[in-house]
Amino acid sequence: MFKENLLREKIVLITGGGTGLGKAMAQRFLELGAIVVIASRKEDVIKKSVEELSANAKDRVFGYPLDVRNYLDVQALIEKVKIDVGMINILVNNAAGNFISPTERLSPKAFDVITDIVLKGSINCTLALGKAWIENKISGRVLNIATTYANSGSGYVVPSAVSKAGVVAMTKSLAVEWAKYGITMNAIAPGPFPTKGAWERLMPPGLEKVMINRIPLKRVGKHEELTNLAAYLLADETNYINGEVITIDGGEWLQGAGEFNFLEQLPSEAWDAMEQQVRKANTK
Ligand code: HXC
Ligand code: NAP
Repeated sequence: MFKENLLREKIVLITGGGTGLGKAMAQRFLELGAIVVIASRKEDVIKKSVEELSANAKDRVFGYPLDVRNYLDVQALIEKVKIDVGMINILVNNAAGNFISPTERLSPKAFDVITDIVLKGSINCTLALGKAWIENKISGRVLNIATTYANSGSGYVVPSAVSKAGVVAMTKSLAVEWAKYGITMNAIAPGPFPTKGAWERLMPPGLEKVMINRIPLKRVGKHEELTNLAAYLLADETNYINGEVITIDGGEWLQGAGEFNFLEQLPSEAWDAMEQQVRKANTK
């Protein structure tokens, strides 16, 4: 789909890059020539993923332990990567935490744990790298991984919804404010893409079919569909895209939004009766 070495010489930091969609993006960016740095809390997971990702990209994969909730840790990581690898020029804010629950069941701590990772973590990484880029006159790029319900809101994942909405607001705000420094910022809003992390915490047992059935394309997303979109948005050739949130969900959220979309369930005979009723009304 892309020319070889589309992301050559780019140093990309992917938070939460040891698992799921973060790891899939790491893999794709490596195929396209990037140098990839993955960072998250679980050192053993990061170490294993670095080993796996290195198989076809020797000396271009680096991994570090990081809790994005701690600003000083993020700053220290940027300095460490600068010495070990070079200055990061692309940030992918992918780390997240989430679980489904009726909101009234949540303790303040349960709310905090999600907002701290998703909203504060994305702010910490963006602010720390943004300051470094501005000081060193580097035209950095940021890609934030949001969700479709950042726009619509969603019950049962309220801490995640408010945090991702904040991430989208940050995307649109800084796309304008930091454009003068050559820094651009976009987001991807994915619908359902099966990963262990998301499915274990968000998919009620037995309800996967119900969820898939309401997606117009009648299937979940493939990881390569998302990773190719991410690569596209991070290529030099698309640098004029700034402040956009690109939805990739098989049409799922629009299915819920369109007033008459529920009529998909109407059988053909009901459409015959409906047509007659409408035509009769027109001739009155
Ligand atoms: C109510 C709950 C709860 C639940 C935890 N808590 N689970 N409350 N219902 N099901 C409460 C705990 O009781 C505690 O509050 C508080 O949350 C925090 O607990 P911790 O022990 O600190 O954390 P823990 O529960 O161990 O882990 C939470 C987490 C973990 C850190 C967020 O799930 C995690 O590591 N997640 C990272 C991976 C992830 O979530 N991936 C999914 C991303 S998918 P109290 O007050 O009792 O101490 C995504 C979008 C998907 O974001 C969209 C799909 C379409
Ligand atoms: P995942 O595999 O669980 O990824 C979440 C990652 O975040 C993990 O690698 C985790 O690693 C890391 N993380 C959590 N807390 C962290 C912290 N405090 N500091 C650093 N890293 C932390 O789930 P995923 O499905 O791939 O999700 C990836 C992104 O896509 C998330 O932003 C998610 O909201 C978004 N998304 C996913 C879907 C989907 O259907 N899968 C849909 C919409 C949006 P550690 O545990 O090692 O820290």
